[in-house]
Amino acid sequence: MRNRTALGYQLPAADITPRAQYLRRREWLQGAAGAALAPWLIDPALAQTAGPGKRPALPAVRSALVGAATMDKPTPYEDATTYNNFYEFGTDKSDPARNAGSLKTRPWTVAIEGEVRKPQTLDFDALARIAPMEERIYRLRCVEGWSMVIPWIGWSLAELIRRVEPTGNAKFVQFVTLADRAQMPGLRQPILNWPYTEALRLDEAMHPLTMLAFGMYGETLPNQNGAPLRLVVPWKYGFKSGKSLVKIRFVEKQPKTSWEESAPEEYGFYANVNPRVDHPRWSQATERRIGEGNILLTKRRETLMFNGYESQVGQLYAGMDLKRFF
Ligand code: MTE
Repeated sequence: MRNRTALGYQLPAADITPRAQYLRRREWLQGAAGAALAPWLIDPALAQTAGPGKRPALPAVRSALVGAATMDKPTPYEDATTYNNFYEFGTDKSDPARNAGSLKTRPWTVAIEGEVRKPQTLDFDALARIAPMEERIYRLRCVEGWSMVIPWIGWSLAELIRRVEPTGNAKFVQFVTLADRAQMPGLRQPILNWPYTEALRLDEAMHPLTMLAFGMYGETLPNQNGAPLRLVVPWKYGFKSGKSLVKIRFVEKQPKTSWEESAPEEYGFYANVNPRVDHPRWSQATERRIGEGNILLTKRRETLMFNGYESQVGQLYAGMDLKRFF
């Protein structure tokens, strides 16, 4: 077990609630007012999901944002960190947990470039401090037909976008993952056009639910989940959420994403979760929740329009033919 007091980066001391204090508070709440509630829904301001103690703690407050909590029970940490897609470390679900441990996540910088008035390269520590850390419990739906529920820690990407001041030409935002052959054995396979690149329309990137995540389950991100920072876009298929980001670029023309380049008829630019638009090779109407027991015996649940975030994001696509813009 690592030293839990050593934060992965420095936060002002005043921001940090001593872990013991909030754990005690949590116990009290569970015993008293919260007795009838699911433990992960108690006291939105204080009851951050308690981590398993495998990584440095990352204190956060529960987000007050509409849509940032769900009644669904979070996926067990063990499942969320051993069943992963991170092709830079191999294509088997167990490869990232096995191979990503050696990824060097410090020093780490993120370059902000393109159509912004304030292009800059931010050191990870400075970037993480831009806004207060929030915990948000989002559903993550993979295009392959499985889903998880993850308590992420981070803040709205809009916080960063506002600071770098996009120019009038900025219509799309590109997200680029590290591509280092020395550290990422998967890059030897030409599965995708490396680096892994994803993109959003500027208004999607500005939507408050779109999040830059630095942690999960009360702790910093494990490498296999995209350390030291990744994107999380809860109403889109999981592949839109690029991991281990090194570059965020503002552009005028809709960029091609890695998945679009590899199979344009299967993976569209928008990739909004939509039970009514099937993948050419399988239905998207239902999903299997990871961590609910035996894969073959678990009952599939219905996939929700925009992954359940329709009331928050539906307006972004008003008037669009979602079969065409899949
Ligand atoms: N980001 C990079 N750089 N490389 C990848 O292979 N896989 C995507 C996405 N981000 C991927 C990536 C896919 S397909 C999914 S479903 C999610 O990460 C999985 O995130 P998780 O492993 O944390 O559940």
